[in-house]
Amino acid sequence: MYHRTSRVAAAATAALVGLALALGTGGSPASAEDPANLTGIILGVGANESQRIVTWYSSADTAQKVQLAPTAALANGEFPDSAATFAAIGGANIATSGGYNRHAVLTGLQEHTAYSYRVGTEGNWSPVYSFKTQDFEGDYDFLFYGDPQIGSSGDVAKDQAGWTDTLDVSLAANPNAELLVSGGDQVETANTEAQWNAFLAPDKLRQYPWAATIGNHDVGGKAYEQHLFTPNTDRSGRYYSNGNPAGTTSGGDYWYIYKDTLFIDLNSNSYATTQGGGGDEAHIGYVTDVINQHGAEAKWTVLVYHHAIYSPAAHAKDGDNKVRRVDFPTAFSNLGVDLVLQGHDHVYSRSYLIKNGAKANPDEQPGAADVFQGPGGVLYVTGNSASGSKYYDITKPDNSGTSGAGNGADPLNPDSYWYNSAQNQEHVRSYVKVEVRSDKLVVQNLRSGTCAAPNPAVERGLVCTNTPANQPVGSIVDKVTVHPYNGDGQQLQVNVPNPAPGEFGWTIDGYNGLVSLGTATEHNGEYFGASGHLNPIAVSDTRRTQAPWSISASVSDFRDAGKTFSGSYLGWVPRVLVPGAGAQASVPVPSSYDDQGQGLSVSRGLGYAEQGHPKGTSQLGAELDLKIPGSAEKGDYRATLTITALSS
Ligand SMILES: [Fe+2]
Repeated sequence: MYHRTSRVAAAATAALVGLALALGTGGSPASAEDPANLTGIILGVGANESQRIVTWYSSADTAQKVQLAPTAALANGEFPDSAATFAAIGGANIATSGGYNRHAVLTGLQEHTAYSYRVGTEGNWSPVYSFKTQDFEGDYDFLFYGDPQIGSSGDVAKDQAGWTDTLDVSLAANPNAELLVSGGDQVETANTEAQWNAFLAPDKLRQYPWAATIGNHDVGGKAYEQHLFTPNTDRSGRYYSNGNPAGTTSGGDYWYIYKDTLFIDLNSNSYATTQGGGGDEAHIGYVTDVINQHGAEAKWTVLVYHHAIYSPAAHAKDGDNKVRRVDFPTAFSNLGVDLVLQGHDHVYSRSYLIKNGAKANPDEQPGAADVFQGPGGVLYVTGNSASGSKYYDITKPDNSGTSGAGNGADPLNPDSYWYNSAQNQEHVRSYVKVEVRSDKLVVQNLRSGTCAAPNPAVERGLVCTNTPANQPVGSIVDKVTVHPYNGDGQQLQVNVPNPAPGEFGWTIDGYNGLVSLGTATEHNGEYFGASGHLNPIAVSDTRRTQAPWSISASVSDFRDAGKTFSGSYLGWVPRVLVPGAGAQASVPVPSSYDDQGQGLSVSRGLGYAEQGHPKGTSQLGAELDLKIPGSAEKGDYRATLTITALSS
């Protein structure tokens, strides 16, 4: 409910501290005449917004590191003596390509900072690359890319051109996007380094953090793990399809928290215990544990895995996807997952809100611009090809039913699958943009290409006839705003009788959205102030007794992960918005900042009516007034207001 962007002086002085450990990598150091050749450098997502992971390949088994400094501290391109260094670890590649892999975790990054970095060692540095951090709290955008699958068109160079163009187009349109999230299948053939080199060629992958996802084309070798090191990764055998992390396949599940979003990324190649690993049951256990342990640190939960379970093209009826479509959805609904991002079917789709494996609300209309999650509603999105290397055409529903594993038709749109609100295949490249806001997620599918080159599958003969001339690069294929189900609302509506003839009752009037107090503003360096309005409360009293009633409320402490301040700093001025039922506003309550009292941390009256009042309805509201000491920590805080009614 509360957000503040002003910096607290004490927090601005922290220095960069390197925490990575150098572990022995064996082998002999390269001679001065034979320096290591450093390739495939990629910036990866870290465990949180103050970290990044840099991964690369080296031709020699030498001790290496990452050097990092604020770009403003570089003079004539030279790193200052104060530059931080992060020792790299890694080992010999498990692949016929040979060579070695290295990665280093960059920690202690500061917000709103442009950084420069390079990898290697004294005398043998890579070129200098740069990235920037932004505000560590509040709204942000991330981009999601379906299957680049470099090499799948049969022409690696063309696939690289399409992939590079999608990154360039999407980041030119969204230069402040903060994460690039993968839908899996980076390459066509797991250990083919020519394909990895083409995938890693775009410089954007050294400027924006890539959040890797493993696809079925990546899984067959160790190159995926060696090229794309990920944070908080559990490499237990149960997250490998064959149960063997020490073998020659890639796998593992991982999670990270980025600015109040908990991302959990699964190796969906492992789905059945008969393969040798833990299958879907292990993934559900992993998601459950991570959400139980870290869900309270975030406001959104986003799952990412490769194999789309609600997609409309070549893989829609695959037996393995039907298994996942039965295994996953109820757990995801029960865990309060907001959004699931998927790939594999090389087509765009957006599901209806799905609850426990069925359409949550039969009345949700195809292509609805706004959807309201209610408890258990989960949105599933499938990304089309980001590179244009391969597209799959939309297939027809069958008679196998409209829930669970079924692929039946949507009663509202019989050409479409029951689970999909939007399906699109034009044989043009696209990406998905997600705007994360305090009270909504806005999900869009945007064209990054047209029928024209670079469009490798089309260049190699696929007909591209579906794109009207008025759908240029940057135009919107589909857009939906997801309105969350607020836990606040659930609490607000507990222990309350429904208004009915001859009864007293109250309810939140309309959609009980998040009450945003916006960004607090500083006043004379003494306190931060913010204000807002309570969602209106409708009161109905049609009892013959004309007995008194009252509505009161109290607020919890405001929290953001481990940070907190007292709810007493919230005060209010109650109002009667719509008169009736004898309603009168209760007395104003000041913030404890003003009177050293208890504010709304204890139960306070909002409105009431006295004995003998007329029957009828009314609407109550309040102007909320938050004043907190200037010493409070920067954060994106929330609190819960609990409302109770009394009638006699
Ligand atoms: Fe795939």
